[in-house]
Amino acid sequence: MTHGTMVYLDTPQSGLKYTGSVADVYDAKRMDDPKWKIEQEIIERLLSDLPPGAWVVDAPVGTGRFFHLYQQKDLIVRGIDISEDMLKKAAAKIGGRSRVMRLQSPDGQVIQTPQFELIQGDLTQPLAPPDKCVDAAVCVRVTRWLSPQVCQNLLKELQRICRDRIILTARVANHPHARPVQMFEAVMSDDWQLEHSIAGYQPEYRVLQFRCKSSPLLNSRTIDAEAVKAPSDDAWTMKPYEAA
Ligand SMILES: C[S@@+](CC[C@H](N)C(=O)[O-])C[C@H]1O[C@@H](n2cnc3c(N)ncnc32)[C@H](O)[C@@H]1O
Repeated sequence: MTHGTMVYLDTPQSGLKYTGSVADVYDAKRMDDPKWKIEQEIIERLLSDLPPGAWVVDAPVGTGRFFHLYQQKDLIVRGIDISEDMLKKAAAKIGGRSRVMRLQSPDGQVIQTPQFELIQGDLTQPLAPPDKCVDAAVCVRVTRWLSPQVCQNLLKELQRICRDRIILTARVANHPHARPVQMFEAVMSDDWQLEHSIAGYQPEYRVLQFRCKSSPLLNSRTIDAEAVKAPSDDAWTMKPYEAA
């Protein structure tokens, strides 16, 4: 797809950059970068009020830069990325296996599920998860790789699967890859609104948070604290990613 002078890779090709040595050094190359640190801090703050047992889709999950926070806060995470090499790095952060979480809904129904599952998937396509199945979506550092049209489609899909909030980063001005805030707002459904637009390392680089006005997040699920504190060895499963 072309848009102005830019050519976008609206296919799985857009993920091919993040393979091999790029995936190997991804974290090390960025962790001391002020741009990375500021962004990390902002996003962690935006996620900090999620209750234990809330569900997060991290797409693209990359090497799992927020995994320590997800673990600390007992969030249930489904990570999607197109790059198998990035998913392998993410899987390594959870030691290749994920704790099983036991959740209890207000009506007493008990659900057992791995805390982390990593899925190889293409964000340029409709997302596989069903409607309103996660509380939050984290969509960081991908908009520049997707055409404006695909960014809009992705945001529509995230609203479809998400119950509470969508956190998304974008350079919104003064760059060939800029994705103006208005472009995202244009595809907000009536039930969603832009809640925060926070400047990252530059005023044009923003962390956006969209919020569902009718979020049923609170009290939708409560976690069985005992099960979280003391999972037996048997309760661990291994599902690093869907490899071919
Ligand atoms: C700059 S990294 C960001 C990863 C992570 N969100 C972070 O902040 O570190 C971009 C990621 O997008 C993934 N990606 C690019 N195009 C994709 C697509 N079409 N579908 C799914 N993932 C894609 C890449 O594989 C890579 O892991």
